[in-house]
Order: sequence, then C-alpha cells, then structure tokens
Amino acid sequence: MNVKKNLVAATMLAGTMTALSFMSAGTAQAQGALVMYCGVQEEWCRAMTTAFERETGIKVSMTRKSAGEVYAQVKAEAANPRADIWWGGTGDPHMQAAEEGITEEYKSPKMGELQDWAVRQWEQSKGRTVGIYSGALGFGYNTDLVKSNNIPEPKCWADLLKPELKDEVQVADPNSSGTAYTLLATIVQIMGEDKGFEYLKALHKNVNQYTKSGAAPAKAMALGETTAGIAFMHDIVTMVVDKAPVKVVAPCEGTGYEIGSMSLIKGAKNMDNAKKFYDWALTADAQKLGADAKSYQVPSNKSTPIPPQSPKLSDIKLINFDFAKYGSSAERKRLLSKWDNEVKNLPK
Ligand code: G6P
Repeated sequence: MNVKKNLVAATMLAGTMTALSFMSAGTAQAQGALVMYCGVQEEWCRAMTTAFERETGIKVSMTRKSAGEVYAQVKAEAANPRADIWWGGTGDPHMQAAEEGITEEYKSPKMGELQDWAVRQWEQSKGRTVGIYSGALGFGYNTDLVKSNNIPEPKCWADLLKPELKDEVQVADPNSSGTAYTLLATIVQIMGEDKGFEYLKALHKNVNQYTKSGAAPAKAMALGETTAGIAFMHDIVTMVVDKAPVKVVAPCEGTGYEIGSMSLIKGAKNMDNAKKFYDWALTADAQKLGADAKSYQVPSNKSTPIPPQSPKLSDIKLINFDFAKYGSSAERKRLLSKWDNEVKNLPK
C-alpha cells in the first residue's frame, strides 16, 4: 500500500520525486526485518509470515526446519546469530537451548492470556521459552492397505511390532525430529528405559525409513507408501481432512504429547522486531491462523478456539510427561546417542 501511495504521489509531484522515494526507503528501513526459524508445517509457517508482514510492514525471512535441526543451527551460530526468533517445533530442544543460554529471557505482556501448560514451560525454562500449542503423539494407518493385506487394525504401541507390519512402519529420526524424540521419551516413560529400548529395537525391524521431518510419515501413509506411520495425531488428522484413506490412533497404552514452543535468540540482530513477533504470536488472532492452515494443534491462548478437528486431549490417555527432564541438555544428549548406538545402526 505504501508503495502504491508513493507511486501516485511521485507522478503528481514529479519535482519532489527524489525526495519522496528517499523517504519511503527510510520508512522501510525503520520497519526493518526479522529472521525466523520455523518449526511447524510449511503452510502454517507461510501463513504466519504473511500475516505478520501485512500487520507490521516488517519483512520476514523464514526457514522451515525440524526441531533438532533448528537447535543445531542456533547452537552453531551462537557467536554470530543469524536468526532472531525460533517459532514452533517441539519444546525439548527449546528447553535444551534455554539451559545452554543460547536463547533470551523475556516476559511477554500476553502471558496472562495463556493456558497453564504454556506458562509452566516458560517457568521451567526460566523465562526463555513459552508454549504456543500442544498436541498428542500417536500413529495412523492406511485403511486400504490394512484391508487389502489382511492386517489386523493396530490399536496399541505393541501392535506396531507385529510381523505383518515388517517394513511397513515409518517414523522420523529423533536426532532431527522433535516428533521422533517425543516418541523416544514417551516409550521410555511408559515402559521404563530397558523395556523401552527393547521395544524400539523390535520396532526397528518394522521401520522402512527414518525420515528427517516428523510429519513425513503421515504424508507417506496418505500416499500409500507405508501402511503405518508414527506422528503427532494432529498431523495425521490433516491427511484425513484431505480425504486420504487414513485412520488416526491414540495408542491404548497411553501416549506422550508436546508443548510446541517459541524462543528469542540471544544476541538477535532484530531483537525489537523479534519481541513484536513474540507478543503477536501469543494473541488469539494470530493463533487462529493454525487451523486455517490445516494445523490442528491445541492453541496456548485461552481465547483461541480449539479447532473442532483437533484430537481431544481429554479423551486421550496422556502420560504425565516430564518436560523438564526430557528437555534437559544431558538427558536429551544421552538418549539420542543411546538410540544411535543401540537402535539406528542395528542390522535388520
Ligand atoms: C509438525 C507438527 C508440530 C511439531 C513439528 C515437529 O510440524 O505439526 O506440532 O511440533 O512437526 O517437527 P519435527 O519435524 O521436528 O518432528
């Protein structure tokens, strides 16, 4: 709009054209820029970017990456940060970054509008990360493939070990993916560490591919490239909404969940703009953009309507997930290297 106005003015007042364009460049500079690392689905990342730009005139440069990848990048860039804000993705690497001091403390004026679980995330990280959404882990299956191959419908984590599903289960790699790390932490909490690792080793026999991003197995299931896939339930719901022959399962043994989070990068070059984005991203209006982009997490602002498609957390057997423990730097590093050594490289 500014550009259009300036153009009209410039045509009318040809003599002052140089002065006007100089002024408009000055305004753009004052609004400035924002570099965002985005951890949710690309569609939602783009919707947030466009809406924020429209509202503030701040130019956003956005990159979508999985949770573990963003963490690794923020850490590698810590001496000279490129990004200003890290929005979305599971909370565990946000917690790890908070503990390692590579993200910045901040108390938004919007804190009072948030659900308790979102505030708890902020308190546990000493003000360095805040909850923006929540969602339960689960799995799904392609109903056509289950039927045509006479596979009993899986209902429990244990069912994913059945020989009928050999090479038919897909899940991400927990090093890159927060979804898959949530699986690792969930299984260890439900079964205990020894039995949990036995389970993950047995599951390995049925896994056809460890993907980089957490939601990739949901898409592969929808396309019939894998019979079953482990992902956040809301990511599988997106496939159902798009009419894929897919069913969503809340595992019978119980399951873990995520607190998708947001953090400011320490030493951010555009810190004021990053705080503007942070405050805006906590508003009910901004959070509504998720459902519009077919992302069906439970929003953290109490006034944001929960999308009707969202899996109802109250109907799911949720474990008492220990976010502080499994988001701690030492525990996350230990579990990931144990998974690499004992599961990933296991012959099939
Ligand atoms: C999807 C989900 C988010 C989740 C994210 C984690 O985008 O919709 O709720 O936080 O995956 O991504 P990752 O690729 O790290 O598993």
